[in-house]
Amino acid sequence: MMQSLPGFRDFLPDDCAARNYIFARWREVALCYGFNEWDGPVLEPTDLYRKKSGAEIVDQLFNFTDKGEREVSMRPELTPTLARVVAAHERAFKKPLKWFSIGQFFRYEKQQRGRLREHYQLNCDIIGESDFAADIELIALCIDTLRTFGLTEKDFVVRISDREFWADFLRQQKLPTEKWEEVLQTIDKSGREPRETTEAKLGKLADPVFSIFDKGGDSGKLDRLVDGLGARGLAGFVDVDVRIVRGLAYYTGTVFEVFDRAGKLRAIAGGGRYDNLIGQLSDGAVSMPALGFAMGDVVLGELLRDRAAAREKLEAAVNDQNKIDIYVVIAKEQRRPDALEQIQELRDRGYRVDYPLTAEWPQVKAKNLATREESLIAGDALLDSVAKFFNVSGSG
Ligand code: HAM
Repeated sequence: MMQSLPGFRDFLPDDCAARNYIFARWREVALCYGFNEWDGPVLEPTDLYRKKSGAEIVDQLFNFTDKGEREVSMRPELTPTLARVVAAHERAFKKPLKWFSIGQFFRYEKQQRGRLREHYQLNCDIIGESDFAADIELIALCIDTLRTFGLTEKDFVVRISDREFWADFLRQQKLPTEKWEEVLQTIDKSGREPRETTEAKLGKLADPVFSIFDKGGDSGKLDRLVDGLGARGLAGFVDVDVRIVRGLAYYTGTVFEVFDRAGKLRAIAGGGRYDNLIGQLSDGAVSMPALGFAMGDVVLGELLRDRAAAREKLEAAVNDQNKIDIYVVIAKEQRRPDALEQIQELRDRGYRVDYPLTAEWPQVKAKNLATREESLIAGDALLDSVAKFFNVSGSG
């Protein structure tokens, strides 16, 4: 038997129904926030990621040389594509742009719980707005997206942080800017690595960094962010946590990641500000502040199945998708053409209609109402089998 590749999923009908449910909720909330849907190609020049995503993603690229000798990659994320597209077309749109997209992404990662080699993401980005109101709006959208699945502040938390906080710190420590990215990556991994490993990598910065971890960082900007969300009744969904810096290289300001409250799963979503990426990708031709986040379907799916209220909604949606409104029994085979005419009419009106494609006769479905057993019996054996049943049960 041929098997699928590691980290790639088959979607059986119930899985497709669950996926449709997730996409429908994603789309609904993004549209509610006034975002417009867009999409880009799944294959891009490898350089787009080499230049912009940072080392971790480049190691995970599904890349190859195409028949025209081009170095290409399956997209591991959408943000570099978005920056390219916006730099090319921004003049056609009024600012700020609020764009969302739902699509499949590919990363050659070590397969583990919550991490596969393909996954779907909802991406939501706001381009051309540097005001802090956009940061609050984006995080509110991320929270509301999860709330529509029936998840509450008991189920997930948005950990927010600020790369500028760390930039100020590294400046104070007089660390040359070309070393910043390495330190930020170490801080990003610190939650997943033993303390000694992080200490060794940080060297003389280890003490001050760990002291910030222990005390929690002091940031007026992050306090204002929480206040802004509080004004919408969403403060219970967020925690300030300066340990979050994000693995991707292009972030410049606010960054955040969403986790399950129980801390059992990988990140559900992540994002932040990337005010320099569009300028860098267009060699300075177009310079626009931007921010966004992506939410993946894999960990979200795990969480939805884990939390009772969310699971009920998911299961109801799956059942609803696969249900039929009307099943037409064709009692007389000679009348099949008439039945088909009516079936056609019912379907034209939007009913979900099913019927047997071939004659059920000469077989009959018999059901023993006492035992609830069902069996198919050939038509000419019906009398015999009924007689046998009454003899055996002796009930006359
Ligand atoms: P990211 O944190 O790399 O961010 O991915 C976002 C989400 O996608 C993760 O939180 C996770 O749920 C899901 N995800 C990522 N990799 C995998 C995987 N191998 N298997 C399953 N799920 C995965 C970005 O991609 C940024 N481009 C987000 C962004 C948009 N920033 C600004 N705009």
